[in-house]
Amino acid sequence: MTQDELKQAVARAARDYVADRLPVGAILGVGTGSTANYFIDQIAGIKDRLGGTVASSEATAKRLAGHGIRVLDLNDVDAMGIYVDGADEIDGSMAMVKGGGGALTREKIVAAVADTFVCICDASKRVQTLGGYPLPVEVIPMACAYVSRELTKLGGKPKLREGLVTDNGNLILDVHGLSITDPGGFEERINQIVGVVTNGLFAQRGADVLLLATADGVQTMHANPAS
Ligand code: 5RP
Repeated sequence: MTQDELKQAVARAARDYVADRLPVGAILGVGTGSTANYFIDQIAGIKDRLGGTVASSEATAKRLAGHGIRVLDLNDVDAMGIYVDGADEIDGSMAMVKGGGGALTREKIVAAVADTFVCICDASKRVQTLGGYPLPVEVIPMACAYVSRELTKLGGKPKLREGLVTDNGNLILDVHGLSITDPGGFEERINQIVGVVTNGLFAQRGADVLLLATADGVQTMHANPAS
């Protein structure tokens, strides 16, 4: 199977997961990226069961609306049962690197509201140690050079993502050359740098469920095996 076929397979599995577990009329959070796009196409078939969706980016909102799926402002939502999103890397503790699509800040906000974070990935995203994929950091534009110097002190090699302005009007520094052995601590440390909006480590709020597409089928893993 190609990587694209694996992404489509996990998108179908995520649609079934949502259809089985999200109460009719409840709110669904929707992530950003190519895997999330396949998921959006799948949930078009169950849109009448959804109370509405919250999008983690302008691109996702547009795709959802294109399918006639109701998109709500997060400020109008009191509770969200499930958030479904892809990842660039995920480790054995369900910590992730996200933000390859530049939507990390809104993704982190929507994920914070959701009861259950369902990560949907193909098997290439599963890693022993995070950091092989450059870690995205969203930065207020005037702080870019300062934050770059601070990230270098932490052992990374930050590179400005050329031509990208986030949905929030900010810039992205992609930090290369990291081997992240303490994802929760490193997430917190980077967020303490003045001028950082947030970083793409999702460790303090990692995934609760991983749907992982492999050549042998989609595997389901739980952060808390009792759940
Ligand atoms: C976007 C993300 C995506 O979830 C991540 O980049 C994975 O993308 P894809 O499904 O295209 O491989 O975090 O900001």
